[in-house]
Amino acid sequence: MRIDIIAGARPNFMKIAPIIEAIRNLQNANSEQRTTNHDINYRLIHTGQHYDKKMSADFFEQLGIPEPDFNLDARSGTQAEQTARIMMRYEKLLLEAPADLCLVVGDVTSTMACSIVAKKLCMKVAHVEAGIRSYDLNMPEEINRMVTDSITDYFFTTSEVANNNLRKSGIPNERIFFVGNTMIDTLLKNRRRFEAPPIWETANLQKGQYLVMTMHRPANVDEEQKLKQFMDAILQNVEGLPVVFPVHPRTAKILDRLGTEANNLHLIGPLPYFEFNYLVENSKAVLTDSGGITEETTVLGIPCLTLRDNTERPETITVGTNELVGTNPKNIAPALKQLFSGNWKKGTIPEKWDGKTGKRIVKVLEELRE
Ligand code: UD1
Repeated sequence: MRIDIIAGARPNFMKIAPIIEAIRNLQNANSEQRTTNHDINYRLIHTGQHYDKKMSADFFEQLGIPEPDFNLDARSGTQAEQTARIMMRYEKLLLEAPADLCLVVGDVTSTMACSIVAKKLCMKVAHVEAGIRSYDLNMPEEINRMVTDSITDYFFTTSEVANNNLRKSGIPNERIFFVGNTMIDTLLKNRRRFEAPPIWETANLQKGQYLVMTMHRPANVDEEQKLKQFMDAILQNVEGLPVVFPVHPRTAKILDRLGTEANNLHLIGPLPYFEFNYLVENSKAVLTDSGGITEETTVLGIPCLTLRDNTERPETITVGTNELVGTNPKNIAPALKQLFSGNWKKGTIPEKWDGKTGKRIVKVLEELRE
């Protein structure tokens, strides 16, 4: 079976790494046994949605992801421009060199764009991290999830909530595969390799004595005044502890204009995977509007304050260490007060977030081709 594995933006890279590793292990085992009966061949297609070294190449290097076979070089643009470029270039590639199955991960523009192209060329589509829903159509990611799942053949899911969402939309059980979370495979595999970034020394950070913050959602950062209110509320309520903020390119442009500064605020560029997770694992808490980070903090047992009104990952709240603080800067003070009172929930680890998801996915793929 010929599989195209699609990756385009930063949060995709940690999700594909364990799947590629599991396919390669299978290929090696088959070549030792001199059998090619169960071979899965893959091509890695990078759409080029994220292209900066710090948003892409650093992750390939650290996570040992092989060089992509093709790079569609889509780069930045409006949602429609980016989607159109990815679709046109992936379609051209498939017309010249077809594949049997297109495997997409997550919820970024590349996920939706490639699944549409593949399905229209009558290929099968597999979606890893299928079925999660925020029901917030103001987020491009929710539209990407809904469109992708509406044309997916094989649904690989991270939770029972996702399974139920899919069942409610009429997907039969035979097409839903509850396999766990590939992002957590990557986290657990690399945990011992996390390493302190330079800011650890320069800001004299101490374990449990600083906070990490990330923010890049258009709804939070595109309105300058709101971002300013968020920053002010956070800095005023962290009891003087350092706040380390690795800034996404979208947010950097706006923060530059605002000229935000404070003695305890450390604005730095996007960090590679090992360095970012070192900071998270040793922090007092994380403030974020990312979805993936809420999963990582849950597994690392670090309190997470989500600066959104909803989440497509409810198990990070019901089982894990995450709480929704919302998008009103007024909610920051009471949430941080609770954190500093020492009463933040401890959380446990969601079912099947055990580091074996990549293997489970490849086992299903092997059975599909039989
Ligand atoms: C995308 C994903 C989001 C994910 C985020 C993580 C979609 C709809 N959104 O949002 O789900 O959480 O990535 O990073 O796919 N830019 C650079 N260098 C890069 C990449 C982007 O400078 O390597 C700039 C772009 O020029 C643009 C901005 O960052 O101005 C946003 O990039 P874009 O890919 O449109 O979406 P993200 O906000 O990164």
